Amino acid sequence: MKTPVAIVGAGPAGLLLSHLLHLEGIDSVVLESRTREEIEATIRAGVLEQGTVDLLAQSGVGERMKREGFVHEGIVLRFAGASHRIALTELTGRSIMVYAQHEVIKDLVKARLDANGKLFFGVKDAALYDLDSPSPKVRFHREESVEEIEAQFVAGCDGFHGVSRPSIPSRHRQEFTRTYPFGWFGILVEAPPSTAELIYAHHERGFALVSTRSPQIQRLYFQCDPEDDVKSWPDARIWEELHTRLATRDGWTLAEGRIFQRGIIAMRSFVVEPMRFGRVFLAGDAAHIVPPTGAKGLNLAVNDVRVLARALVDYFKTGAEEGLKAYSATALRRVWRAEHFSWWMTSMLHRFHDDTPFHHRLQLAELDYVVSSRAKAITLAESYVG
Ligand code: FAD
Ligand code: PHB
Repeated sequence: MKTPVAIVGAGPAGLLLSHLLHLEGIDSVVLESRTREEIEATIRAGVLEQGTVDLLAQSGVGERMKREGFVHEGIVLRFAGASHRIALTELTGRSIMVYAQHEVIKDLVKARLDANGKLFFGVKDAALYDLDSPSPKVRFHREESVEEIEAQFVAGCDGFHGVSRPSIPSRHRQEFTRTYPFGWFGILVEAPPSTAELIYAHHERGFALVSTRSPQIQRLYFQCDPEDDVKSWPDARIWEELHTRLATRDGWTLAEGRIFQRGIIAMRSFVVEPMRFGRVFLAGDAAHIVPPTGAKGLNLAVNDVRVLARALVDYFKTGAEEGLKAYSATALRRVWRAEHFSWWMTSMLHRFHDDTPFHHRLQLAELDYVVSSRAKAITLAESYVG
């Protein structure tokens, strides 16, 4: 099989890249190791920056998002028993959209299949080679047979645990990592919203986050031990922890409900440089990870493919290689800004096991500064909205 662009991974990065190329008349093949049902049911991100919303809408996959998503114009920081609103829209002129990542995936898969896009699910053992030659290749197993794609370019969009990044010889990549000594316990709950805007809470017992999915379904997280087992958290213990961490002096209450999904997420910061080797380009989580505290991961993946799609379109339409040459540096500039923001939000809002009372007072002083200085609130808001 021959194709201009072979894309490994049908997450937001791979699907959107394939869609954007298609709109410009450029063909691609997307290889995904999981089934369509699995990728459309995996619960992950919820917050889309305005730039992400605009790109999805302009490229014709934003109709359901606009109908079913929720525009938020602020977030709440909660600490020392009080809430403080960060007025995102008033401070920056921009807003965010709460719309689940798996809904974005459904919209993109539908758009690709409606356009007869080549999207292969359940492929096994994908292997990339000849990456620094003019015709890089991907070999894989599909329905008992071995197949090979010869491409002009390969896009590695296969997430943090994918095969694309390790296919780049280690002497041609530099990796930067930080793992955090905590994880997030995430739940989906059948309950009405307890708040009109997301609440990011700092508490002596650890961080908590109140987010939403719909008027009937809420998404809640709390900081936990990354080695913890969901089985050691019966419902009553989860609610007690959330009530404690989210309590305010003015008696705010959290609506409880049936918990129907639960899981523990590890937290890390990671960047690989450069995001290109020969004719393979990395995009999204394959190239970088942020802790979810800044809600940046999905948005970074979208930004990478926005830049990569433009560069590939330029190349195929005019032969210009400048965009491809600049891809890594252009994407990494935004990546590092988001890495810093996500690290900063994480550091300010979580409890670290080696915290001293001094460190805790510094966190409270910083939170107090953010909510009392317009300048500091703007720096948070402009990074948050993107
Ligand atoms: P992925 O979504 O990981 O997709 C990669 C795809 O490649 C997968 O479908 C995988 O099955 C496939 N694949 C892997 N290996 C292979 C292989 N060898 N062959 C073929 N296919 C392969 N981000 C935000 O912006 N806002 C948020 O609010 C937010 N909240 C989050 C909450 C949680 C709990 C988590 C875990 C993440 C959150 N993120 C958030 C991050 C966001 O989900 C990721 O950054 C995003 O999924 C990255 O998209 P991607 O396409 O790069 O990678
Ligand atoms: C979510 O709704 O899943 C969500 C919201 C904000 C974050 C992370 C996750 O920072």
